[in-house]
Amino acid sequence: MEAYFDNSATTKPSDEVVKAMLEALTIYYGNPSSLHRKGVAVEKLIKTSRKQLAKALGVKDEEIIFTSGGTESNNAAILGTVAAKKRKGNKIITTRIEHPSVLNVFKSLEAKEYEVVYLDVNREGKIDLNQLEQELDAQTILLSIMHVNNEVGTLQPIGEVRKMLERSNSKAIFHVDAVQSFGKLRFNPAKLGIDLLSISGHKVHGPKGIGALYVKKDLQLTPIAYGGGQEIGIRPGTENVPGILGLGAAASTIEEKIEVHISKMDTLRNRLKEGILSEIQDVIINGSINNESAPHILNVSFFGIRGEVLLHMLEQDNIYVSTGSACSSKKSSQSHVLKAMGLTDQEIEGAVRFSFSYENTIEEVDYGLSRLKKHVQELRKIMKR
Ligand SMILES: Cc1ncc(COP(=O)(O)O)c(C=O)c1O
Repeated sequence: MEAYFDNSATTKPSDEVVKAMLEALTIYYGNPSSLHRKGVAVEKLIKTSRKQLAKALGVKDEEIIFTSGGTESNNAAILGTVAAKKRKGNKIITTRIEHPSVLNVFKSLEAKEYEVVYLDVNREGKIDLNQLEQELDAQTILLSIMHVNNEVGTLQPIGEVRKMLERSNSKAIFHVDAVQSFGKLRFNPAKLGIDLLSISGHKVHGPKGIGALYVKKDLQLTPIAYGGGQEIGIRPGTENVPGILGLGAAASTIEEKIEVHISKMDTLRNRLKEGILSEIQDVIINGSINNESAPHILNVSFFGIRGEVLLHMLEQDNIYVSTGSACSSKKSSQSHVLKAMGLTDQEIEGAVRFSFSYENTIEEVDYGLSRLKKHVQELRKIMKR
């Protein structure tokens, strides 16, 4: 049996996605900017994809800009906003637990003399709204907060953050990295008062190298690249047609089936969580313990064990998990997320992330749990010798 529990790192493209991409590569290979019918046909398909994604998010078609993924969307949102608001202020706020594609952009701006604030999080990985309130001032031009954390699944109070911005009379632009919440939670960026929102194709059974940025209508954003006028000049360059059509297909599945998917992922995660808590001793669940968490992520620390060793033992049984996030787990440094949450070195070292998709099954979870139990016992025996 195989159990792929690393869906926060990436997901397997669905059959619908592969079909759409194959058609783009074999039939619809025209350049959407071409005036002849081969171009016009592709332009129409891109329009359909934009519509599918806009519908899944509950926003207007013209508010969707296709990018090369979550990383580019985050960069375009942050750098594009600070460039557009250069004269309005120099204070920018984010959190300590963002993905590197946000954190490293903020770090680069620190070097350019922006005043950067990194909000703390509590043991569950949540920000403190009071700290945010204290930091907001007339100089604040940008606030970037992730919706769901990719390592622990904690959900930030996005709606309350918007209310706080209003109460403080703040004009700050509100960017949300929704790479881990799109397709995992039903939400509407416009209703939540979000100005800019990043998503990525490969986390939702779509292709890699494609993503999108929701840009609220009439919002000013300076492009970070210049070229032809594609994607209303915000993201020039000949379109990644297979990626865009693949993402459209993935968005369409989300729109149709998100409730079923959420309930399936929730059931699988809870089954593994309860199983681990009742059958394996000396563990802690990292992240939110109540319902303020995404349905697809379970992060557990196994005391006395190195997460990386456990990962490779599980791999022998065709069970795939992760330690930190995929992007940072190859580096030897500790997870900045678990550190910010105040976990001890031992807790961080023993942390493993299980992340689910609607494609996983109960049988896979039960298989995973039985192997997990065996390996944890074995490893602890070895450590005691
Ligand atoms: C929260 C979050 N933001 C951004 C990204 C980057 O997305 P992409 O891989 O499409 O560049 C990831 C991917 O790991 C992520 O989990």
